[in-house]
Amino acid sequence: MADGNAAPPAEVRAMFDRISPVYDLMNQLISGFQEPRWRRRAVRETRLRPGMSAVDVACGTGKVSTSLAKAVGPRGRVVGLDFSPRMIDRARRERSAVPGLSFVVGDALALPFDDATFDAATIAFGMRNLPDYARGFAEMTRVVRPGGRVVCLEISRPRSTLGRAIQRWFDWVVPVIGRVAGQGDAYAYLVASTRGYPGPDRIATIMRGVGLDDVRWTPLSGGIVTLHTGTKPAAWTPPG
Ligand SMILES: C[S@@+](CC[C@H](N)C(=O)[O-])C[C@H]1O[C@@H](n2cnc3c(N)ncnc32)[C@H](O)[C@@H]1O
Repeated sequence: MADGNAAPPAEVRAMFDRISPVYDLMNQLISGFQEPRWRRRAVRETRLRPGMSAVDVACGTGKVSTSLAKAVGPRGRVVGLDFSPRMIDRARRERSAVPGLSFVVGDALALPFDDATFDAATIAFGMRNLPDYARGFAEMTRVVRPGGRVVCLEISRPRSTLGRAIQRWFDWVVPVIGRVAGQGDAYAYLVASTRGYPGPDRIATIMRGVGLDDVRWTPLSGGIVTLHTGTKPAAWTPPG
């Protein structure tokens, strides 16, 4: 059986639709205001330059998409994609003034783009929600050009003592904050989806398995978040 999130996609989508109004604020609280730093690092790893293009998969309210758009400038192009219509509504409402940035409702496992359309593909805190991680990485790889970058930022289970202490706090506090915000189920799901997500070695193996080259990973903030990167080789054939 493929590695992937066991929760039914329709339930995951309904849950993200429901929490879209509180999502950004909750994220800042849960991450201890660390998330802008993590996102900046992910954007840097795309190696995008002015005039280039990128897709931000599972973009949510479009934070990473906006930073990518700033990296490529007004001559570049960035598309944020998410399967939650309400997340996309918010992204469009809040970020309509950003030049070169657009948003589309779509499925990460069947990206509505031709092969080799973009210079880079990112996914931030989205991969652990997908029912098939390999297919998610394969789709991101398919839509970037040879030499293009695939970048994945995701919550991980830390190995260090400090990281584990932070993780225990996270496991306790996230459902509490969720209940206070009236979204207890959703934030219990967040903890569960994190527990089910494979370790960094396994994710790197999955990325190599879909044909990415130069796969590397970097733990951030004691390993509570991990950044994976890979490069599409010149001769790439879709897996399977
Ligand atoms: C935790 S949020 C992350 C949002 C954003 N990338 C960020 O960094 O804040 C996960 C997002 O993944 C989206 N998502 C989950 N499964 C998806 C799928 N199969 N296709 C597209 N989006 C998906 C959800 O709708 C949600 O907006």
